Amino acid sequence: YELNIDENAASKGTYEFYMLKEICEQPSVLRHLDQYYLDQNGDPKVDAKIINALSKADRLYIFAAGTSYHAGLIGKQLFEHLTKIPTEVGFASEAGYHFPMMSKHPFFIFLSQSGETADSRVVLQQAIKRGIPSLTLTNVPNSTLAREANYAMSLEAGPEIAVASTKAYTAQVAVQAIVAKALGEKIGIKDAADFELKKNFALAAEGIEQVISSQEKIERLAQKNIIPSRNAFYIGRGIDYPVALEAALKLKEVSYIQTEGFAAAELKHGTISLIEKGTPVIALINDSVTSDLMRGNIQEVIARGATVITIARKSLAKPADDIVLPEVNYYLSPLVSVVAAQLFAYYAAKDKGLDVDKPRNLAKSVTVE
Ligand code: G6P
Repeated sequence: YELNIDENAASKGTYEFYMLKEICEQPSVLRHLDQYYLDQNGDPKVDAKIINALSKADRLYIFAAGTSYHAGLIGKQLFEHLTKIPTEVGFASEAGYHFPMMSKHPFFIFLSQSGETADSRVVLQQAIKRGIPSLTLTNVPNSTLAREANYAMSLEAGPEIAVASTKAYTAQVAVQAIVAKALGEKIGIKDAADFELKKNFALAAEGIEQVISSQEKIERLAQKNIIPSRNAFYIGRGIDYPVALEAALKLKEVSYIQTEGFAAAELKHGTISLIEKGTPVIALINDSVTSDLMRGNIQEVIARGATVITIARKSLAKPADDIVLPEVNYYLSPLVSVVAAQLFAYYAAKDKGLDVDKPRNLAKSVTVE
């Protein structure tokens, strides 16, 4: 008598795919990051050497690829808000060979789930050659980028198996918030002292749980409005713009529906010509500064026949909105809003009968340039 254990199935538990398992793990990742990186009072516990080195920088440069690059775009907003240090974000693949102009005291931050991405390693080699200090945030503590940078911090998201990154992205956003708060406090920035990380991580964890509990509705919307289309758009303004980029990447990479993420008001400068009857446009509404303008942008695409799905935070929501997100600090709202997009991607791919965890042509870690 032989016990036939399918190891993959076992570690997936009751989930059909790793991607859904990893989406659902995000609340625990945030709670773990709270335990791991915050003290009782919610103050960051980050190696003082790292914060000292960062405090000497007059400009931060974040380099990454793919989903990690999109996390870096959120990181820019977190760093600039909490530290007032100008922050640039670049594709590692571009910076490696077209090195950006440097400030007097640059500091490089590498974001990489795997810590092995060749494009990022090329930029790190440049940094080492030029004596520019560096920090890697990675989910694999012993990875090449972690070993070769001056400093490294762990994302603590646990192994991510699905090719499409989900929980590593949220961990990257959260750990950047932790580093930014620690650095901002060190250099005396009031916005950093006022930033309630602990409270907002807890709110975000609960918020993600609420989004996950509406997954049947998300699946129905995906079936009705997204799957029948060959293309789709995510639109957003403010912090919702980089979320739209990540949301679009997630949907296209797993469902093969061509999807673009757009700064909502830019559509009318050209791309709106692609909107036809039934084109799905998913609108993210978390930015109070531009929410009225965003509603106008939504009307513009409706007038061209688009089928709009709205995802709005509670304080900005209207009764007809499709998904209402619980309130979380604006700068951390991507932690919650991205999860709705991850679920749209997941269900679009699954209900098309695709191999959600292993989309065609993709690899989890790309070690060639
Ligand atoms: C590959 C993966 C993406 C990932 C990118 C960067 O293309 O398919 O999901 O975002 O590499 O990977 P990294 O490990 O550096 O975050």
